[in-house]
Amino acid sequence: MKKGLKEIKRPVEAELREFEVRFKEDMSSKTPLLDKITYYIVQRKGKQVRPILVFLSAKISGTINDSTYRAASFIELLHTATLVHDDVVDDADERRGYFSVNAIWKNKIAVLVGDYFLSKGLLLAVDNREFELLQIISTAVRDMSEGELLQIEKARKLDIDESIYYEIIRMKTASLIAAACAAGAASVTDTPETTDKMRSFGEKIGLAFQIKDDLFDYGDADVGKPRGIDIKEKKMTLPLIFALNQSTRSEKRNIINIIKNHSENKKKVQEVIRFVKDKGGLDYAREKMNEFKQEALNILHSFPESDARRSLEKLVFYITERAK
Ligand code: IPE
Ligand code: IPE
Ligand code: MG
Ligand code: MG
Repeated sequence: MKKGLKEIKRPVEAELREFEVRFKEDMSSKTPLLDKITYYIVQRKGKQVRPILVFLSAKISGTINDSTYRAASFIELLHTATLVHDDVVDDADERRGYFSVNAIWKNKIAVLVGDYFLSKGLLLAVDNREFELLQIISTAVRDMSEGELLQIEKARKLDIDESIYYEIIRMKTASLIAAACAAGAASVTDTPETTDKMRSFGEKIGLAFQIKDDLFDYGDADVGKPRGIDIKEKKMTLPLIFALNQSTRSEKRNIINIIKNHSENKKKVQEVIRFVKDKGGLDYAREKMNEFKQEALNILHSFPESDARRSLEKLVFYITERAK
């Protein structure tokens, strides 16, 4: 099965073109500094996985309409806001292959720009009386903040286990992807079962999406953002959690000591990466990722065959096989 994004987008190609125009308008500001930063961000757009999900989820559930466009814009505005904030929180200087907003304009401005995008999204919904959309996305915003804070708390204590890891990634990443799928469905149907099914589908692929992202951190390939920073930030992700569970007490003590006290030491971090690989941490994470992928596919198979369903199936494969 071919999984290029281009082919995945085909059933909603025209809609995505129209979306790009509207999204730019929805982001715009008359304040010169904001306008400059917005321009910088729009020039470096990401994969747009979430808007693609909004449109395909709408199409599999009914007929795309104006509310679908607003859902796509709001979701991508919020995603943009969280990335700008995330790079402040993670002290990351690269995003989408270029300097991050905080790297160029500093943290103060990045925080305010993120808030601006969030408020633009909120207004887009309120001005159009999109209260169901507002409800779906506000839930995701709350979950994302809680997920990030839980992650910080666990990074400080270094006492994370596998179930807490899933809880963190469900909140910080899967919640927004689930919201994208639910919002797409809700924009075209009043059947709560359909919206719930799509939300659940989104949550599964969101979990797979973040496990894949956490695998990138251990890789050598250029993905347009810093790698090897999770350990530096004391962020314990699935490959490391599994490796620690496989190790002896003294191995464990040594690794935890490196993370706690030497996470800035490149050579020591390399030792941790080697340890994770030797213990089969990457293979285990891939296995878990594929379990979520399969659960997502099972949900899709409860819908009748269509172009939209085929594209969503390909998107599931894309998420677990993508290069960035
Ligand atoms: C990055 O999301 C943040 C995570 C949840 C890992 P994407 O990988 O979708 O980012 P862009 O929009 O394509 O840059
Ligand atoms: C992704 O967080 C989830 C967000 C809330 C943005 P990460 O910190 O793991 O994502 P990347 O790798 O920087 O995109
Ligand atoms: Mg982060
Ligand atoms: Mg980050």
